[in-house]
Amino acid sequence: MNPEGNLKQRGQWSSRFGFVLAAAGSAIGLGNIWRFPYVAGENGGGAFLFLYLICILLLGLPVMIAELTIGRHSGKNPVGAFEAIRPGSPWKIIGYLGVITGVCILSYYSVLAGYTVGYIGKSIAGNLSSYESFTSNAMISLPLFAAFIALTCFVVQGGVRNGIEKWARILMPVLFVLMIILIIRSVTLEGAGRGLSFYLKPDFSKITGKTFNAALGQAFFSLSLGMGAMITYGSYIKKDDNLVISGTFVAFFDTLIAIMAGLLIFPAIFAMNMDPTEGTGLVFKVLPEIFRLIPGGTIVGAFFFILLSIAALTSTISLLEVVTAYLVDEKHWLRSKTVWIVGGITFVVGLPSLLSQEGMVPWLADLPLVHTSFLGLMDWIFGNVMLGVGAFFIAIFVGWVWKNGDSTKEILSGFPGFGRIAPVFYFLLKYICPILILVVLFFLIKSGA
Ligand code: PFF
Repeated sequence: MNPEGNLKQRGQWSSRFGFVLAAAGSAIGLGNIWRFPYVAGENGGGAFLFLYLICILLLGLPVMIAELTIGRHSGKNPVGAFEAIRPGSPWKIIGYLGVITGVCILSYYSVLAGYTVGYIGKSIAGNLSSYESFTSNAMISLPLFAAFIALTCFVVQGGVRNGIEKWARILMPVLFVLMIILIIRSVTLEGAGRGLSFYLKPDFSKITGKTFNAALGQAFFSLSLGMGAMITYGSYIKKDDNLVISGTFVAFFDTLIAIMAGLLIFPAIFAMNMDPTEGTGLVFKVLPEIFRLIPGGTIVGAFFFILLSIAALTSTISLLEVVTAYLVDEKHWLRSKTVWIVGGITFVVGLPSLLSQEGMVPWLADLPLVHTSFLGLMDWIFGNVMLGVGAFFIAIFVGWVWKNGDSTKEILSGFPGFGRIAPVFYFLLKYICPILILVVLFFLIKSGA
């Protein structure tokens, strides 16, 4: 197996900038703009933000670099990567779990992404009727869901440089600029100050085990870690790129956008006397109401949902790319055929999530025993538990199993000064990451969905 040899067919990012944009596109998504604010709102605002930043630094960053290192060293998808480094060992199961997790996250993520697109139209039409009436109308939500998957397939079909990188290059800077404009609007609303202090002044008495769980789970989800997305994206990085700097850039931009999403949403919520603990519906239920009360809200609202759709698309692209890279590399399927087959499967897997939303199929909306919706259960199993399990084994693999010499050599090839920080990197991977993840997984499973 010669990773250099197969790079020609697999493609590579055109530059470090291209990689950083694409990987930041994967990381930045509904997780930052929809999930981060509602989880932060439910977990005490500033206290959550504080813990979240610590989790990103101690856990997210080392696992991110570990995934990129595995990916670039092997030049492969997650299954092929573990097989290339430890042939014939059970480690490739982690890769298979990643592929399955990819399809499952993609399935419910696309349901929400479909709503996001729908809300662009709703904002423009000035028809901001209730969330429930929208989600319960399958005539609207079903085609939007299918269209979003199709759009993702269309982009991924183009391959690394023409598809993913080209789109990320255009879309990510647009997203950034749109958010800055919206933040300026939000923080200048009357009464915005209360929202800013809720969000930026940590009240440490609010930190509990639950806050810690929420912060850690959010860190994985947001950085796209634990299912091999960064292994796959790392496989397209050139040998002389600096993995530590590139990974740090990605984590930095992702965290920046999450912080910005909070700056956009909390001042507005407090200015409108609304509830920060609104829950999963926060963006879809509260924001349209806020936009309606803001002068020019139709435009602001439409902009916001365009932005959210863009962010979602660059994330769904990476979810589909993990599965596609596996089937193209290992099973030698044609890329153009693969994306549509996987897209079709994702559509079927996502249907119960779509039908579990308000006003559709009651028993799917409130499953027996777990008392959550099917979509909520999928997010809990795949967005929380499975990403944690994956990140745990990736940390163990690079920290303990893969000879440090090899991973060090891989990182050194684009970063000659790595030796100085290597002890910190391996200390975090060997001890801090596995222990923290185990503790959190234990609490997650104990407290249930
Ligand atoms: N990081 C993405 C977000 O924050 O929306 C979601 C995601 C993408 C999770 C890719 C996992 C993944 F592999």
